[in-house]
Amino acid sequence: MSRVVYVNGSYVPENEGKVSIFDRGFLFADGIYEVTAVINGKLVDYEPHAERLERSLNEISMAWPCSKAELRQMHEELIKRNKLDEGIIYIQVTRGSADRDFKFPKEAKSTLIGFTQVQKLLENPNAPAGVKVVTIPDIRWARRDIKSVMLLAPVLGKQRAYEEGAFEGWMVEDGKVTEGTSSNAYIVKDGKVITRPLSNSILAGCTRRSLFRMAKEEGVVIEERLFTPEEAYAADEAFLTSASNFVLPIVEIDGKRVGGGQPGPVVRKLREIYLDEARRQAGLK
Ligand code: PDD
Repeated sequence: MSRVVYVNGSYVPENEGKVSIFDRGFLFADGIYEVTAVINGKLVDYEPHAERLERSLNEISMAWPCSKAELRQMHEELIKRNKLDEGIIYIQVTRGSADRDFKFPKEAKSTLIGFTQVQKLLENPNAPAGVKVVTIPDIRWARRDIKSVMLLAPVLGKQRAYEEGAFEGWMVEDGKVTEGTSSNAYIVKDGKVITRPLSNSILAGCTRRSLFRMAKEEGVVIEERLFTPEEAYAADEAFLTSASNFVLPIVEIDGKRVGGGQPGPVVRKLREIYLDEARRQAGLK
């Protein structure tokens, strides 16, 4: 089935969804994006994504392309028009199209696009056995807290991970793990979850934020500090979080088995807690 996509106020068949070659997203990666999960045709954790979009836009002095209510309505309309049961919604805002000039254009109107992607989230095929990661150098810019569409470093990193038989690349800077190419990174040692604190060095994950709240309610201790790849090799468990994978166990890092090489009890519990909340928001329980 061909999808219906959103482009600047119109819903059109996907092969008719077009933007200008002068769009600054295309020429300069001058844009912001968000990815939100959908379960049972319902948005999961929509508010944190809308808040993060607002923050990213402010940080690069880009205006909202529409009202907040319109953005939510666009998400819901995409779900409806595509009969999306489970998957994600991708939205992107750019500074619009104008003659190529690095400075902000005076006249340009921002571009807003959105589309759906079908994906299994509750029954993620990678969840039961867990995934492998490899460490790679973090070659990104200094404002990773902004969810910018400038994703060449993550693209190269993910491809390298894939070529090495891994699902994700964990990026390393100054000897410490920052995050995955499109996910946040965690290890578990002696029952405690360890992850890097928020800063300009990583993206403030919406899944991370919700999981923190739920984990604390369940009495799971979270220690926000930097960790090295060596610490990760010796960890009891490891996992990643993102809107497109929720909580996903990691069983091997750089060819070294983590824990027993199987998803451990803490990550299995955290995945269950997260899925429970996602099902609740989706009206499935
Ligand atoms: N990526 N860190 C990075 C660099 C990311 O790109 C993402 C999300 C995350 C997790 O954030 P959240 O929990 O809000 O999804 C962390 C999305 C899924 C993507 O680019 O497809």
